[in-house]
Amino acid sequence: MGVLEVKDLEVSVEGKKILNGINLRINSGETCVLLGPNGSGKSTLMQTIIGNQKYHVDSGKIIFNGRNIIGMSPNERVKLGIGISFQYPPAVRGVKLIDILRAITNDKEAIKKIAKNINMENFFDRDLNMGFSGGELKRSELLQLLLLKPALALLDEPDSGVDIENLELIGGEINKILKKDIKPRFREMSGLIITHMGSIMQYVKADRAFVIMNGSIICSGNPEEILEGIKENGYEGCAECMKQN
Ligand SMILES: Nc1ncnc2c1ncn2[C@@H]1O[C@H](COP(=O)(O)OP(=O)(O)OP(=O)(O)O)[C@@H](O)[C@H]1O
Ligand SMILES: [Mg+2]
Repeated sequence: MGVLEVKDLEVSVEGKKILNGINLRINSGETCVLLGPNGSGKSTLMQTIIGNQKYHVDSGKIIFNGRNIIGMSPNERVKLGIGISFQYPPAVRGVKLIDILRAITNDKEAIKKIAKNINMENFFDRDLNMGFSGGELKRSELLQLLLLKPALALLDEPDSGVDIENLELIGGEINKILKKDIKPRFREMSGLIITHMGSIMQYVKADRAFVIMNGSIICSGNPEEILEGIKENGYEGCAECMKQN
């Protein structure tokens, strides 16, 4: 069964069309990666799925576990089981990281344990994301997501600006929650991970990849093969391949 189905989705931001009829499906337990050049609409797609009102849905459907979620508030979508880690998470003065974590869960032990696993236990009393380094921002986002345990995790570039050690740490934790070591039908969570260079794919074995260009999905298939093609021929290679096919 498809946990997420996006059908003919067209989206505009401030009157400018960004997504031109996106079609994609993520099956239950599957982890997919979304690859695409800068400005192709990757973050726009995620922001639209989570319900950021800046992104106007012109047409199409977003179906999560059988329900069209267009029109629902982000809050409702999160309650249904969609979680996101942002590419550029906002900093919030006056709200401590621990305040957010306690709003997510009452389980103090889980907060301590997971924060320790991803080296965030010394950040509890810092204002949320204020002055966090690039790598710390990604770990802060992941910590919140790990505690939220959504049925569908949307990760917008969890690997960008992250050094090797942190990449291994982040990749390892993502792998753990997505249970990539067991068969998809036994997994409780599905994922959609945006990555540029595919660094996270060394640690998280994706089941399928999508390539987005100019606001449309132009290709899908085996993640390793697609990434190899992109590394060899760039996204221009994808455009050429699309023309030929
Ligand atoms: N408020 C806005 N007004 C006009 N254009 C916008 C606005 N917000 C986003 N865009 C444009 O939408 C396009 C897609 O942006 P998006 O952030 O989705 O790209 P992306 O694929 O995530 O890129 P990156 O890899 O750089 O993160 C870009 O050309 C961007 O400039
Ligand atoms: Mg982006």
